[in-house]
Amino acid sequence: MPAIVVLGAQWGDEGKGKATDLLGEQVDFVVKYNGGNNAGHTIVVGGEKYALHLLPSGILTSGVTPVIGNGVVVDLSVLFQEIDAISARGVDTSRLLVSANAHIITDYHRTMDKVGERFLGNAKIGTTGRGIGPAYADKMSRLGVRAQDLFDEKILRQKVEGALELKNQLLVKAYNRKAVPVDTVVDELLMHADRLRPMVADTSLLLGKALDEGKVVLLEGGQATMLDVDHGSYPFVTSSNPTAGGACTGSGIPPTRIDRVVAIVKAYTTRVGSGPFPTELLDEKGEWLRDRGAEFGTTTGRPRRCGWYDAVIARYAARINGVTDFVLTKLDVLTGLETIPVCVGYRVGDTTYDEMPTSQTDFHHAVPVYEELPGWDEDITAARSLEDLPKNARRYIEALEAMTSAPISVIGVGPGRDESIVVRSLV
Ligand code: GDP
Ligand code: IMO
Ligand code: MG
Repeated sequence: MPAIVVLGAQWGDEGKGKATDLLGEQVDFVVKYNGGNNAGHTIVVGGEKYALHLLPSGILTSGVTPVIGNGVVVDLSVLFQEIDAISARGVDTSRLLVSANAHIITDYHRTMDKVGERFLGNAKIGTTGRGIGPAYADKMSRLGVRAQDLFDEKILRQKVEGALELKNQLLVKAYNRKAVPVDTVVDELLMHADRLRPMVADTSLLLGKALDEGKVVLLEGGQATMLDVDHGSYPFVTSSNPTAGGACTGSGIPPTRIDRVVAIVKAYTTRVGSGPFPTELLDEKGEWLRDRGAEFGTTTGRPRRCGWYDAVIARYAARINGVTDFVLTKLDVLTGLETIPVCVGYRVGDTTYDEMPTSQTDFHHAVPVYEELPGWDEDITAARSLEDLPKNARRYIEALEAMTSAPISVIGVGPGRDESIVVRSLV
């Protein structure tokens, strides 16, 4: 039975949360496999708005078991705050499971994130300041604290001491900050241990058995392809693998069990933070997209940078992730434009690219080559089938589909769970 990956094709905020929520009724498990509370998913159900950061989006559907996989970095105070806030609104969070191998974000990771960015000055990444990069750096340096470590105080203390040894030198000598006392960190982590204990499990074993029993497992990526540490616009990326390979390493489900890879792609492009963005609009057209699409970050509230659809990126995402289906979101936002430019290639000096340039410098200097598609004026938010759409909206979808190698199976025409056109079922 199927394991389905849902991931972002662009620079995040494509509407992954809504897509995951839409599939909720048809799946048994929703597993978050990467990232942490840098993610922000806004989901609208029955007119109620929910903003999720660390909890898997499947949490809003009763009957789904939400899982925080081993590839996630977990800030425990955020986890419990989010559980409390959502429980207070009547959502059942009792089935939530956390991998024993998930790494923990501590106070010193948040501190290192902030001072690191300040130190970079103009070259800063524009991180969410949630300690994500430093927590993954500790994981790779084998200095991380995992969920299971909270249940053995002696081991926990040893690990925190190891992690702080060099960091405290750096904080005091390079960053002119106070050293972080080991005791403070250990006490704070231990304070969460009892509440965390019943949620912690061998989630890879459990998911393997679930697939054997014919259950449907949805693997939900945070961030997106262009923010992937290996395949994104490095160094302006996050510190994990949001791409399809990360779904396997971040959950313990092998590639041979994945049946479907669904990429969420916005009908235009947005980006938060620094880094190259070829189709970015720095004029009133970008402002128009930001206003119409309400493009302000769910996590940091920062205005998102906006630009036209980039087919080079969509094609790249299709290849890197082995995409079987696209979900095209926010088509309704484009209503009212006379023509809609779509980037079909890049020009760098005398060279034209129809694939992602290998060189970072070339990508920084890429000038989009646009094709103009005719727009539409009709309100499309009530459309529930392709036939309900104006001819030019259908032409836009067909043109985007022809530019990549995978079908557009679902189209978003509004933020609500039901504001979607399902052309082909995803489960
Ligand atoms: P995520 O991080 O990929 O889950 O996306 P975000 O939640 O950060 O940003 C997507 C925003 O677009 C949210 O506010 C959604 O409610 C909204 N949204 C999702 N799909 C659609 C759509 O088809 N049309 C409109 N107008 N809004 C949408
Ligand atoms: P969702 O899941 C958009 C961006 C940050 C920054 C870079 C690194 O909602 O799509 P980090 O804090 O991860 O070290 O920041 O990545 N970023 C996101 N941008 N959506 C997200 O998540 C993001 N998560 C991180 O703005 O540029
Ligand atoms: Mg988001």
